[in-house]
Amino acid sequence: MTSRLAGDVVGGRYRLAAELGSGGFGRVWRARDLTLDVDVAIKELQLPPGMPETGRAERLARATREARNAARLRKHDGIIAIHDVVIDDGLPWIVMELVDGCSLDEHVKQHGPLPVGRAIAVAVALLTAIGAAHREGVVHRDIKPANVMLDENGKVLLTDFGTAIHSTDTALTATGMFIGSAEYTAPERLRGSDGLPAGDLFSLGVTLYQAVEGVSPFRRDTQEATLAAVLLEEAPAPRRTGPLTQLITRLLDKDPGRRPTVDEALAMAGDIAGEQPATTVRVRRDTKILPIQSKKWPPVGVAAPMVFMSAIAVLTALGVAGLPDPGGTWEQFEKYGNYDAVLGVAVMIAAVADVVLVGLVCASFARFLPANVGKIVTAVVGVAGLVFGCGATAFAFHGAGEILGNAMELSGRESAEAPLALISIVVLVAVGSAWSSQRPDRRETIRGRTRS
Ligand SMILES: Nc1ncnc2c1ncn2[C@@H]1O[C@H](COP(=O)(O)OP(=O)(O)OP(=O)(O)O)[C@@H](O)[C@H]1O
Ligand SMILES: [Mg+2]
Repeated sequence: MTSRLAGDVVGGRYRLAAELGSGGFGRVWRARDLTLDVDVAIKELQLPPGMPETGRAERLARATREARNAARLRKHDGIIAIHDVVIDDGLPWIVMELVDGCSLDEHVKQHGPLPVGRAIAVAVALLTAIGAAHREGVVHRDIKPANVMLDENGKVLLTDFGTAIHSTDTALTATGMFIGSAEYTAPERLRGSDGLPAGDLFSLGVTLYQAVEGVSPFRRDTQEATLAAVLLEEAPAPRRTGPLTQLITRLLDKDPGRRPTVDEALAMAGDIAGEQPATTVRVRRDTKILPIQSKKWPPVGVAAPMVFMSAIAVLTALGVAGLPDPGGTWEQFEKYGNYDAVLGVAVMIAAVADVVLVGLVCASFARFLPANVGKIVTAVVGVAGLVFGCGATAFAFHGAGEILGNAMELSGRESAEAPLALISIVVLVAVGSAWSSQRPDRRETIRGRTRS
């Protein structure tokens, strides 16, 4: 590994300014081109100490090939331009266009998943760049969120054609080294059919899935488990992809023959984007991107629990109304509620309002939180809500049962069955409603659309 520091001059021309990031094969620096007096990005190739000569030669050849393949594509707006390759201290340094922004991977980690509208723009930009590369006979082979750059003006750029193979290239696979990132690699590639254009479309599908869902669908704890997941498992049903669901589902088809071509995928993305398929996405490092508002808010799955909680609140009010009756509930409440009727009612109303309000507030704010924080908040609030909810529910149904019992002049077992019947009806309606709201999504995700 080299030990270059900021301030060092590489190739007699590029002064290193600051490290921008590092990946599996090297560090990327912001640097000053002292000849042209402009800023550039420069990628150094790191070699592990004691690396055998064959591996070393392979890495060096890979870097040269990266530059050659990307240089062939430099005309394209959506592909990072390579300016130069310099050999310094026996190692190659790739000089390229500097992007003021961050990678899609970093963006999702910092700001959470992309809203669907922006993901569509990213999909269109990447498909256009991939199409241009394929037309030049270049297959990328390492498309992943870390190799997609988002600049501050909204441009989407594909980078790192380091593992790309040109149709006339002799492959560097003689050593059997696995090139690429397993979780983004197409299953047919893992089975040995290397370099097919359709493989880039699978990787794009995984990249888009991660961009919108915030998780990589086939990532597992070990390399073996990841490979098995790519080969054998379906991606978990996406929940946030909305109109992109069908495109992503088709890109993730295990059979390369059933995946859409670049043109078909572009047509699908264009249809989704409507009249103006955006080719750029505006991203600022310091800007929190809010998800686009759902047209149908709240969705039925959220509305059902809200209705359920509201019903509890109403029933609790009924329970309070029925309390002057010498029923057990009020007595119990007085017994445990500081013996102060006014305070007791206030505490109870606060408890019920708490359940309803916390539910509403969480439903609203959880959408703006990163997925993991959202899950923790949901779990904590869920437990608190359950505790409060159980108390309030028992209390409410007891009071409502007493009202019913009095009104219908029921007694004994019959009056005990009244609240049970109420509970059953409310729960059945809520569960049925939530279930029906889930079904169409699942069907769409599982089926996708097959190519005619
Ligand atoms: N042209 C560039 N301009 C600005 N920053 C860049 C540029 N290229 C890369 N970077 C930054 O450097 C980081 C590391 O890039 P690099 O390609 O070395 O890593 P990687 O893609 O994660 O891994 P791999 O070595 O497998 O490609 C990127 O995540 C990005 O933040
Ligand atoms: Mg990279």
